[in-house]
Amino acid sequence: MTAAFTSTLDFPVLLRLVMEQVKDLMKVEAGSLLLREETGELTFAVVLGEKRELLQGLRIAAEEGIAGWVASTGEALVLPDVRKHPLFSSRVDALTRFETRSMLCVPVKTEEKVLGVIQLINRTDQTPFGEGDLALLSAIANHAATALENARLHDQLLQTNQQLLEANHHKSKFLSQLSQEVRTPLTGILGYAELLQDKRVGPLSARQQQYLQNIYGSAQHILKLANDLLELAEVDTDRKIFYSEEFSPLIVLEEVNALMAPQATNKEIKFTLDGEPQLPPIRCDIHQFRQILLNLVSNAIKFTPAKGEVTVAARVWDPGTVAVSVSDTGIGIRPEDRERIFDPFGRGENAVARRIPGVGLGLTVAKRLVELQGGEIRVESEGEDRGSTFTFTLPLPPPRSGSQPVCA
Ligand SMILES: Nc1ncnc2c1ncn2[C@@H]1O[C@H](COP(=O)(O)OP(=O)(O)O)[C@@H](O)[C@H]1O
Ligand SMILES: [Mg+2]
Repeated sequence: MTAAFTSTLDFPVLLRLVMEQVKDLMKVEAGSLLLREETGELTFAVVLGEKRELLQGLRIAAEEGIAGWVASTGEALVLPDVRKHPLFSSRVDALTRFETRSMLCVPVKTEEKVLGVIQLINRTDQTPFGEGDLALLSAIANHAATALENARLHDQLLQTNQQLLEANHHKSKFLSQLSQEVRTPLTGILGYAELLQDKRVGPLSARQQQYLQNIYGSAQHILKLANDLLELAEVDTDRKIFYSEEFSPLIVLEEVNALMAPQATNKEIKFTLDGEPQLPPIRCDIHQFRQILLNLVSNAIKFTPAKGEVTVAARVWDPGTVAVSVSDTGIGIRPEDRERIFDPFGRGENAVARRIPGVGLGLTVAKRLVELQGGEIRVESEGEDRGSTFTFTLPLPPPRSGSQPVCA
């Protein structure tokens, strides 16, 4: 019986189950489970016996009758003849035209509070309830109390989770709208700043040029922030649509290399691609794969001083997994920062101290994207100024055997 109590989290089903088992076990004409409301009132939650439809859902006052007394004191009562008891209220009997003779009434309580009462009425063989019955029903009531409390906590947890999900959804939606709104005027600011910088509207003094550069730099910082936030909000609200396709990771590695080469050349950084030629194709969203790689490579170039080295490598890790790593000879990451940098807005102490511009969202986005594709990301660094290696893994599609049908 205990197993049945604890495995059912559906409140009404659980209550009826408890009572049906009790009624069979203790051979009674009628029985009910009353639940205690916040106000102390009692509601007939489950009623078994002839006149059950008359009582189901009925409420009684906090201290009315025997049930009221048991609920407010938390004490059980065994009554061979209820009608002689001063606490007995005949209201319910009058309503049901049922004759209550003997009664066993126990509280359903946890250590802190009374959740309700179980009432059993008239044994079918007319014998009175005894101490053994009281002990048995009390034990059942204890299990029921635990199960009820679990069910209540479970419901509460579900509700809280739902609220959190909704709040998170609102937050992401707000962030994505804000980012979109910010991008339009920023594009205008950047456009005009470029026009001025190109001196197409006239010559600029050295000071004007300096100020203009500040405007340009700040606007670009905000644009980066808006783009990263938008990206993150999309991943968070599941609005990102993933397309699954099979492709060679080397093609994307080369593409990203070509795209980032000018930035590397500007800083005289030696930029190398080290892809295992026999690399099998992977199956995931190619745009997300490119995005992850771009975030890592742009960091590697940004956090590596001039004349350093950046290497992008891809190889089969263990069977079934491909690992892509981006290593650099840059500023490195202190041990205490290695987890934090993946959190939203998390930036390494050394990056901040050296005033290397950044927002702290690129790695958060990369990590979420990797995880959404079923992979993992990690970082290794020997310490400050000793470079860093970011590695992410992705599962390889299962190998096709010749005898298997190929599904489209
Ligand atoms: N290649 C790297 N070398 C050293 N530190 C890095 C590297 N990549 C990332 N980091 C650290 O992780 C932080 C978070 O990175 P990211 O989320 O991309 O934000 P951002 O690039 O805007 O600073 C960076 O601010 C930096 O402290
Ligand atoms: Mg970054």
